[in-house]
Amino acid sequence: MTTLPASDIQLPLFIYTQREPLTEKSAWVALDEHYRDRARHFQLERLFAIDAKRGESMAAEDVGIYLDYSKNLATAETMALLMQLARQCGLQERIDAMFRGDKINNTEGRPVLHTALRKPAGTRLVVDGENVVAQVQEVLGRMEDFADRVRSGQWLGHTGRPIRHVVNIGIGGSDLGPMMAHEALRHYGKRDISMHFLSDVDGAALLETVRTLPAEQTLFIVCSKTFTTLETITNAHAARDWLIAQLGDAKAVSRHFAGVTTNIKQAAQFGIDPDNMFGFWDWVGGRYSMTSAIGLSTMIAIGPENFRELLRGFHAMDEHFRTAPPEKNLPVILGMLTVWYSNFFGAASRAVLPYSQYLKRLPAYLQQLTMESNGKHITVNGETVNYQTSPVYWGDNGINGQHSFYQMLHQGTQLVPCDFIGFCKPLEQSGDQHELLMANMFAQTEALAFGKSATQVRGEGTPEELVPHRVFDGNRPSNSMLIDKLTPYSLGTLVALYEHSVFTQGVIWNIDSFDQWGVELGKVLAKRTASQLLDHRQPLHHDSSTNALIRRFRNCNRS
Ligand code: F6P
Repeated sequence: MTTLPASDIQLPLFIYTQREPLTEKSAWVALDEHYRDRARHFQLERLFAIDAKRGESMAAEDVGIYLDYSKNLATAETMALLMQLARQCGLQERIDAMFRGDKINNTEGRPVLHTALRKPAGTRLVVDGENVVAQVQEVLGRMEDFADRVRSGQWLGHTGRPIRHVVNIGIGGSDLGPMMAHEALRHYGKRDISMHFLSDVDGAALLETVRTLPAEQTLFIVCSKTFTTLETITNAHAARDWLIAQLGDAKAVSRHFAGVTTNIKQAAQFGIDPDNMFGFWDWVGGRYSMTSAIGLSTMIAIGPENFRELLRGFHAMDEHFRTAPPEKNLPVILGMLTVWYSNFFGAASRAVLPYSQYLKRLPAYLQQLTMESNGKHITVNGETVNYQTSPVYWGDNGINGQHSFYQMLHQGTQLVPCDFIGFCKPLEQSGDQHELLMANMFAQTEALAFGKSATQVRGEGTPEELVPHRVFDGNRPSNSMLIDKLTPYSLGTLVALYEHSVFTQGVIWNIDSFDQWGVELGKVLAKRTASQLLDHRQPLHHDSSTNALIRRFRNCNRS
């Protein structure tokens, strides 16, 4: 995201700095010893054998999420040390600072207030003299009015026909949240309005999206926090050209384009009618924006009431995170276990495996949330870390994964802690398919943890030469999250759980989880390179590899 020029940023560096280096904190040192002396030898089978109640005691539950973390390479001692580390890193103070609206996004000099987007109407949070909750509610009200008119068919396109197709144009946080929520909440969606998501600047994306759409009944929502993102603005212009060509009148734009941005001026210059513009604020990070006006397509799909339910779910988890003691705090437990595996076991990745067709886009959404937030190696006080930060988050719909990459989870050489997510009830009964689905989730966590020994394999009459191939060592850790049912509310709790787990990890690693300077260089170079691809006379001063690639591209496109 384009941010303030560096010279405009008042850096409150050192305010949130931890003075003592992380690896010198006593809890870290104790964890290191605990790992070397005991934990690296932990065997889940044995841990379960010596503690018959482990499966129930290493679990936490609130706001509708039951988190079973017993299948982790951790004991009560490990958890106590991890929570001690969280305390020594000032986690609660940092949580309070975020919720209060302090400028904890140090490098951009901004507060981090996505939690204010979900605060109930009528509550207050004053930041820089403004009650931000009132501002949020004002925009929500306008969104509701707009969404209702589109959903009911009152909002008419340029030729007087109601909207039946909505295309969200945006990328990163302006795409992944709305797209994930659309998939997740399809069951609650209005079936006679179809939703489309356009993010890629590849012209094929737009062409394939609009190919079968009737322009008269199509609404484009241009979502961009900055309204300067090249991909989004290029697509928005192309979509506008398409619309005008289809309807033969430039005036059609005001009935077919809405905008969501913090940059109202730029959106107005593009030609979006101010009545169709929905604002948000620089204290909402792109990857934390799905509950801002960026959720307009979600609201059109599921309706304002369901959208309020989604917000209620987020808020419930926000409050849990803010108030629950670390030992019972779901995001803290999840976050600290990630720290445990990344920093002590050297795990380089974490897999997210939802057992729900509806959550198939959740791993993609979480990739941005986790890695754009914590994929950093400089601390808030400008020092290079001497420990690992964000693991790679990846995953897919669990059942599909079982038939592709689970082989590696079970028998590969890398330790990949997994998050399994499942629901007790299906949204619609379809024979015993839900039982079958969930049986797979439970079975996988069991297989990963306890494996299958050579003795068992031999006992099945396996030829000796195949025995090593058929052994499962087990001892592969996982969390299981079990939720009653996928609803707007429970989706809110789940996403907020991950948001706050990311926050927890960022506090421990002492990094700013809310900037994203690492995306800037590529953007600048792409701009320069684009002009060299368009104008073949421009000299090339890249490295020899990039020069050769560009020359080859130019040769292919020589007219
Ligand atoms: O380039 C990364 C990024 O800035 C993300 O942080 C953001 O979600 C995305 O681009 C889109 O930005 P915008 O909403 O300003 O178009």
